[in-house]
Amino acid sequence: VTRFEDRGLDLLVTIDRDGDRPLRDQLEAQLRDGIRRGALHAGTPLPSTRALAGELRISRGVVVEAYAQLVAEGFLVARPGAVTRVAQVAHHEPGEPPLQRVPPAVRFDFRVEAADLSAFPRRAWTAALRDTLREVPDAALGYGDGAGAPALRVALAAYLGRARGVAAEPESVVVSTGITQAIALLARALRRAGVTRVAVEDPSFPLHRRVFAGEGLRFVPIPVDAGGMIVAGLDGADVGAVLVTPSHQYPLGMSMAPERRAELVEWAAARDGWIFEDDYDGEYRFDRDPVGALQALAPARVVYLGSASKTLAPALRLAWMVVPPGLIDAVTAAKVLADGGSPQLDQLALSRFIEHGELDRHLRRMRGSYRRRREALTAALDEHLPQLEREGISAGLHISTRLPRDVPFGPLLSRAWDGGVGIYGFEHGGVARLLLGYANLPEPSIGPAVRALAALVAAARSMGP
Ligand SMILES: Cc1ncc(COP(=O)(O)O)c(C=O)c1O
Repeated sequence: VTRFEDRGLDLLVTIDRDGDRPLRDQLEAQLRDGIRRGALHAGTPLPSTRALAGELRISRGVVVEAYAQLVAEGFLVARPGAVTRVAQVAHHEPGEPPLQRVPPAVRFDFRVEAADLSAFPRRAWTAALRDTLREVPDAALGYGDGAGAPALRVALAAYLGRARGVAAEPESVVVSTGITQAIALLARALRRAGVTRVAVEDPSFPLHRRVFAGEGLRFVPIPVDAGGMIVAGLDGADVGAVLVTPSHQYPLGMSMAPERRAELVEWAAARDGWIFEDDYDGEYRFDRDPVGALQALAPARVVYLGSASKTLAPALRLAWMVVPPGLIDAVTAAKVLADGGSPQLDQLALSRFIEHGELDRHLRRMRGSYRRRREALTAALDEHLPQLEREGISAGLHISTRLPRDVPFGPLLSRAWDGGVGIYGFEHGGVARLLLGYANLPEPSIGPAVRALAALVAAARSMGP
């Protein structure tokens, strides 16, 4: 083990001089591994090639080549006259975004996971909270019902029925800390019922796969095509439940075809299987009439999942499930065991917010705003990046695009972040994709953001695949 210092920079590297493996390979592999594992954080400066070579007693050329290779792969960033640093997003494995979901500040942010944070209805929310606090009896400050505040469950059942066509009674609603927790609670309920395997769409939201795995469930990826999950793929998969995103497939953006919905419901009925319907952005549909929730087709087999993250803000951490009678006791027990119930005052504020029409008012305003941004984004892509093939339907708050094969993905991502453009994507089945979220890009900055992205794509392309 060699430890060295270079203007205060320490780095732990082990070089085996007696082995067969070339020194450059060893050095590269260790740095790559350190970045992937997250031991070397984004932005960490590396020692100069001269200092590292001197410390390791190897030739400087070996270090220069190793650094150059890692720059080409997008793990490091080098600028003339400046220290070489670990790149911003290079340690993400393809398809595995970091668990930490707060990205560094950037000039343009194509982030996907949230509503427009600058449009949060602060005044109406403050009023709902203030009125709640003024009016609730002291008893409401106790633990309350672990499944959710009764007033919110009443408000949600009515809202989901009229807005999403969900068949819901207040008793079937369970409030959770985000859909993230809902998935964990469902996993625990499944485990209690002896289920060990669940199907997910391929591709799907990585966090949910990790939550399932963290709860001890095996997930089985089932491919999707233009009609959504290929339900025939469930034959032989030996799963007790299926997690799907029928309104707007995450991440590719198609809507599940009616015949696939029917097939999935048949599968659930025939196998006593459960369908978990993640309706994370079902409120947004721009080019045709909204399609109601799958849950309405089979309320006894489908758990409907909704969240405030795309309508209000993820910071609320408020989400809800509509749970069939066959699972409600197990899910409620899992929620109570997890945390005794979500914060009651926030739930009461949300119920007031819904009942006073504030949610509908906010959504009406935001739909117009998102529609205009979506149009600005597609127009800018037509003009500056026609080579990014777009997929999916005009719904939700992001557009999935396929990156041409001659544009290397890793270097594009790290250069973009270093250049202040927050982009997100993944590689799947040999195709690299960029997910362009537009909810957090103000309309006037969409043109400049796409121009900046086009310049980055051109620069990355010149590096070759
Ligand atoms: C596929 C998918 N499901 C659900 C959510 C919402 O999760 P939560 O309610 O935990 O914020 C998101 C938000 O990013 C998502 O992308």
